Amino acid sequence: MSANVLVLDDDRFMRTSLVDALGEGGFDCEPFSEGAKALEALSMRRFDVAITDLKMPGMTGLEFLEKALAHESELPVIVITAHGTIETAVEAMKRGAFDYIRKPFGADELCHLVTRAAKHRRLIGENETLKGELRRVGDRPLLGESGEMDQVRERIAAIADSDATVLVRGETGCGKELVSRAIHYGSSRADRPFLCVNCAALSAGLLESELFGHEKGAFTGADRQRAGRFELAEGGTLLLDEVSEIDLNLQAKLLRVLQEREFERVGSGKTQVADVRVIATTNRRLEDEVREGRFREDLYYRLNIVPIEIPPLRDRKDDIPLLATRFKEQSERRAGRSSRPIATASAAAMISYHWPGNVRELENLIERAVLLSVGDEIVVDGLQENMAIASSEATVEGLRGMSLARIERAVIEETLRQFDGHQKKTAETLGIGVRTLRDKIKKWDLAFGRRARSQAVASN
Ligand SMILES: Nc1ncnc2c1ncn2[C@@H]1O[C@H](COP(=O)(O)OP(=O)(O)OP(=O)(O)O)[C@@H](O)[C@H]1O
Ligand SMILES: [Mg+2]
Repeated sequence: MSANVLVLDDDRFMRTSLVDALGEGGFDCEPFSEGAKALEALSMRRFDVAITDLKMPGMTGLEFLEKALAHESELPVIVITAHGTIETAVEAMKRGAFDYIRKPFGADELCHLVTRAAKHRRLIGENETLKGELRRVGDRPLLGESGEMDQVRERIAAIADSDATVLVRGETGCGKELVSRAIHYGSSRADRPFLCVNCAALSAGLLESELFGHEKGAFTGADRQRAGRFELAEGGTLLLDEVSEIDLNLQAKLLRVLQEREFERVGSGKTQVADVRVIATTNRRLEDEVREGRFREDLYYRLNIVPIEIPPLRDRKDDIPLLATRFKEQSERRAGRSSRPIATASAAAMISYHWPGNVRELENLIERAVLLSVGDEIVVDGLQENMAIASSEATVEGLRGMSLARIERAVIEETLRQFDGHQKKTAETLGIGVRTLRDKIKKWDLAFGRRARSQAVASN
């Protein structure tokens, strides 16, 4: 068995004989006389096994062991003990050494031990790879080839394996939950639970007991003791979906658990410790919520330690073809249909469409198209319909069956166009406040709203 062995001993004679014996045994060795140098090498190259003397001037073997394991927890470290250092060897084992070998020892004994350590190392490595693969199968990959998605992936990779709180922002359906999962499954918490709470779906009281749990009799209807999500997610990750919807009272409790890692069940005086990483999502601008007094500023800063912004699909059109193809393949497989291409006109329409429902809308439209298209091409409709409504020919007949939100958006867009982006005139005509109009322009990123803004900037 070949392996890279780091050899650390201050005694030159000892070092040479170790290297010789291991070399004879077929191992590649790199000798070091000082702990600091050995650690430096460890941070640059991969070693399969380390073997170290315990008593050395400067950094001792125990210190080396601790630092090496802090850097690479799976590294098998063998310590060499002399007659007087057996207690230290026991201490080393307690601190995570793989094994110890007592002086004087023969070359065979040494090689045997190093082989065992290298095998152990290999098994752990295989196990990790296996777990990684399971994870990938268990979770959907984050697709997209645009520069914007590359940036999101880079950010995820950079912060996944920390305990930092993350705030994932983006419009509805743009992949906030998927990104949160990627963070969890890319972290050392991956084997622990990933739990999700939708803060918008529960009343303040219910949300509090959902998050922190409650004691029996804490409130009417609390007929049993119940653990909250912070308890259930112990060691793992808790996703607070639509965090902007939490009421001010509960925001204070959330701030405390983020800051002090402490909380109590509703109706209990017993303080508990939470080892939970928190990821929050929002599709609102939290800065605005803070300004309007609806969201605590201190909580905002706490959550926003690492922000990840997922741009809306219309701003990363490069992703549309790949996503459409993957969703088509998935739907075809699920429905047991043979593969058909997407009609050229549909592909073009998908690029120019504004996707208010982002990736989710794309996924749903494709799934429907796979099921409903009758020819030998897949025709994605709904897009034409959605665009027709935004044109001035829209009639009540044409609006039938569409959601109010979509109609509202189309009317606003059309009126803006009519007044060439003049927001005050548009708002007056529609009988709404300019503020409301601006909020909607921002929310939907309307083209005429943008033009008006850039004109305003240009004329300043
Ligand atoms: N980059 C992507 N690659 C593959 N699938 C994606 C991607 N982004 C989103 N999806 C898919 O789109 C759907 C919506 O994604 P997700 O639930 O993560 O969005 P969201 O931002 O949390 O939405 P909401 O604001 O409504 O909660 C899911 O089915 C998800 O798998
Ligand atoms: Mg979501």
